[in-house]
Amino acid sequence: MEKIVILTGAGISTESGLSTFRDEGGLWAQHRIEDVATPEGFARNPALVQGFYNARRVQAAGVEPNAAHKALARLQKDWPGEVVIVTQNVDGLHEAGGARNVIHMHGTLAGALCSACGHRWGAPPEMAVGEPCPSCNRPTARPDVVWFGEMPYHMDEIYDHLASASLFAAIGTSGQVYPAAAFVHEAQAAGAQTVEINLEPTLGASGFDTYILGKASETVPNWVEQLLARPS
Ligand code: APR
Repeated sequence: MEKIVILTGAGISTESGLSTFRDEGGLWAQHRIEDVATPEGFARNPALVQGFYNARRVQAAGVEPNAAHKALARLQKDWPGEVVIVTQNVDGLHEAGGARNVIHMHGTLAGALCSACGHRWGAPPEMAVGEPCPSCNRPTARPDVVWFGEMPYHMDEIYDHLASASLFAAIGTSGQVYPAAAFVHEAQAAGAQTVEINLEPTLGASGFDTYILGKASETVPNWVEQLLARPS
């Protein structure tokens, strides 16, 4: 049965109350990427970076999944074939919406990482500067989030899924950040049908076979309904 691979971005969580990055008034309009989302920025000013992620962690813990997150969880449950969700988002809304085995290619706000020994553990709501690693005890804890200039997580697994996809969908992502922005081409090269679901066509829209425009909380449940209504 057809395998569906879904890539999501910040646009799927915006109706839950979380800002996107590049929309008007988005996170990158309020913060400099170099300061809060690079290893160099963390080395320069760890208090600023920890503060940025602490605020996002607390905010993300206070919001609920929306109809788009829930619809994807339903698709995963009811679709006779495999449904793989790859997200660029660091919030836990896919899981809160009922999805399983979500691949977080940019990490998660809920995770902490030791930049000395690589140990991972559950992040405290407020991570302090010099927070000790519970494994090596060095003051080298950082958010387990992938910063610019760093390699995203689970890339081999993601490319394997793209290579065997029959249908690829990109939902609520501007397609401006690589390698995620090139996934549509990987999937197409493997013969998959491709669809973009977004408020507006992105720069990469022409790279998709079809696109569905509108708010994710409306378009995604409809899209899932149509897929599940297909005669098997
Ligand atoms: N429904 C559907 N799409 C929406 C909605 C909505 N309600 N609101 C906004 N969008 C779309 C916008 O049109 C835009 O194309 O979501 C996209 C958000 O784009 P970005 O802010 O660039 O977020 P994203 O694509 O997830 O960013 C990718 O960049 O900054 C890094 O690591 C960060 O994971 C992030 C990556």
